[in-house]
Amino acid sequence: MEHPEREHWKSSLGFVLAAAGSAIGLGNIWRFPTLTGQNGGGSFVLMYIAIVLLVGLPLMYVELSMGRAAQRGPVGAFGKLAPHPVWKLLGYLFVLTGIVILSYYGVVAGWTLKYFWIALTEGFSRGGSGPFFESFTSNGTAQISFFLAFLGLTVGIVFFGIKGGIERMSTVLMPVLFVLLILLIVYALTLPTAADGLRFYLVPDVDHVTGKTFVFALGQAFFSLSLGMGAMLTYGSYLSPDSNLVKSGLIVVICDTLIAIMAGLLIFPVLGGAPEKSGPGLVFVVLTDLFATLPAGRFVGALFFLLLTIAALTSTISLMEVAASYLIDERGWSRRKSVLVMGATVLVLGIPSALSLGAVGGLGSLVKIGGNELGFLGLADFLFGNVALTAGGFLLILFTVFAWKRKNFETELYSGSTLAQAPRKVLFFLLAVVAPLCLACILGYMLFTGQTLG
Ligand code: PFF
Repeated sequence: MEHPEREHWKSSLGFVLAAAGSAIGLGNIWRFPTLTGQNGGGSFVLMYIAIVLLVGLPLMYVELSMGRAAQRGPVGAFGKLAPHPVWKLLGYLFVLTGIVILSYYGVVAGWTLKYFWIALTEGFSRGGSGPFFESFTSNGTAQISFFLAFLGLTVGIVFFGIKGGIERMSTVLMPVLFVLLILLIVYALTLPTAADGLRFYLVPDVDHVTGKTFVFALGQAFFSLSLGMGAMLTYGSYLSPDSNLVKSGLIVVICDTLIAIMAGLLIFPVLGGAPEKSGPGLVFVVLTDLFATLPAGRFVGALFFLLLTIAALTSTISLMEVAASYLIDERGWSRRKSVLVMGATVLVLGIPSALSLGAVGGLGSLVKIGGNELGFLGLADFLFGNVALTAGGFLLILFTVFAWKRKNFETELYSGSTLAQAPRKVLFFLLAVVAPLCLACILGYMLFTGQTLG
């Protein structure tokens, strides 16, 4: 399907903010601090940074280069760049992964809206967060309503296209997110628990570093950078040929990592040490309970949940764009129709996830993988947020090395760049040798143990 007048980002800053918005999400603000808390604090942070540079950055470059070269979403990009049609299947997997991740990520994102609303209107009650969280997540109508509201916001933005919707919103929301985070960090550092929290977060504890730490750091880097499902590829497809991919990709990776590290500077000083709960409990129960007791806690709580809502929204719009771009690029549909149809599809698919947290007992516990009882939401996250992303990244590397070929990849990546030969060689070595070895390790670990990385 030929689309001669493909829309492009208005400015490279707009692109960088949108791509950073995709990367910066719930993964940074609660998953990163939780994993850091469970895996040795400072030593995990150091390992994470190394992995982001060794594995994350090369893959970011692959996705951006493919997107810009093809000027298509994932399915079209493989169709155009690959010598064999079988690679197109990987494009379909990417679109499916985007739809499924959005269907459960949107449910959790809906909670951030609800909690923002509670903080604004009534505040949190001391010690009441645990029971409230349980009754809220097991109320099917509430779960579907907030999911629908969040999805509505997402659809409403993507509906207006790249410049008028995604770029415009990201340009406003990302600076707001940054300022909110700074304000919250300044507040957290004034609390009496700050010193203990910081000590835990920043002083490396080498005893906690194991093979599992490495696997977690790798999986987190991947999820956090939105890699392995074509989100960066799709955003890259709206870049014009004169953009500097080397620079933009590096800035996106640095921003994502910086925000994750900054989120730790907020969460640990408030907690005053290691988190005793992981996953949703950390933010929606432990922190919320603290907001009920802290000075100006209600106001701070409102800002915190606004921060989470913004982070989640700039991520969900990128997931929606991957899905919609398939219908736009490959089926020739209008953007508006594509976004509405994909919105409806995601809604239907998200309902079982929304109901799996207590509303419908049978959906709460479907399978047991490696000792973990997974419900519908947990299973969707395991299969798509963990396995499909990692497998997708691995296959992307195979595609680049064996099908698209080094020469084509490098010609695209370095057009408009003055990077010297030596770092180019290092980058390709990381991509072709280091990254696939690392990804094979996590895939094996996840499939063997059923351990999700969240
Ligand atoms: N990077 C997002 C986060 O850290 O929350 C999650 C995500 C968004 C993953 C978009 C994949 C994606 F395509």
